Amino acid sequence: MQVERQARDWDDLARLDPYWAILTRPGKRFNRWDSAEFFATGAAEADALMARSDQLGRPERRERALDFGCGLGRVTRGLAAHFDECVGVDISEDMVRGAREAHADVENVSFEVNRAGDLGRFDNESFDFAYSTIVLQHVPDKEQIAAYIGEFCRVLRPGGLAVFQLPSHIPAIYRLQWRRRLYGALRRLGVSAPTLYRRLRLLPIAMSYIPEPEIGRLIDSFGARLLDTDTVSAAGMLNSGVRSTTYFVTR
Ligand SMILES: C[S@@+](CC[C@H](N)C(=O)[O-])C[C@H]1O[C@@H](n2cnc3c(N)ncnc32)[C@H](O)[C@@H]1O
Repeated sequence: MQVERQARDWDDLARLDPYWAILTRPGKRFNRWDSAEFFATGAAEADALMARSDQLGRPERRERALDFGCGLGRVTRGLAAHFDECVGVDISEDMVRGAREAHADVENVSFEVNRAGDLGRFDNESFDFAYSTIVLQHVPDKEQIAAYIGEFCRVLRPGGLAVFQLPSHIPAIYRLQWRRRLYGALRRLGVSAPTLYRRLRLLPIAMSYIPEPEIGRLIDSFGARLLDTDTVSAAGMLNSGVRSTTYFVTR
């Protein structure tokens, strides 16, 4: 039920304002992102990731990469320049449809809808690289987030690299998420998504966080090894006081 609601919310956003729902930059709301500019951010992100990977000496091979919560394939496309094969998975059918259309010209990428609470569709140790950014923070349930992190560790080959981001701290005032609660309540009453989004300026997006030490313990419990972390103050939809941490994990 919860997964169905999350999928509905992301499908709503994929139809209303997909680029901004993915990258909430000032001045870009209400379909003001330029497509080339949007995808250029993913190429730059993938290049920076590979430079960082080189420093860490992982992954040992660049055969197969996973982009979990790929959205429109912004970063998946960038990763395709560095790996033999890239697979993007997303909970939203509309995002996946958009990704397939946007990257029909790229041979070594594919996109799949995954509404399961796990990555059971993929074998153990079947990826050299697993990436997830701006996704886990939108999964409302901490146990679910932990389960996905366990799955990144499971599908990772020995010598591979998993890189995932989520906030490690959100100030109490932002945890109330009244816009999201109101969106859910009114949507259930039958108010249309465009009215909620455009006229009432409400958003269905959840914001979750898990403190860094908890993630460290989780990674240990999955038999993986934390190589490094990067923590930054996150701007964007939520402003000051939010800390976002990226974890670099190997097996
Ligand atoms: C903010 S967008 C980020 C997209 C992409 N990672 C990027 O950086 O361009 C979040 C994406 O995560 C997807 N998502 C949210 N919950 C998910 C889940 N449980 N499983 C898979 N995808 C999920 C949404 O549908 C959406 O496309």
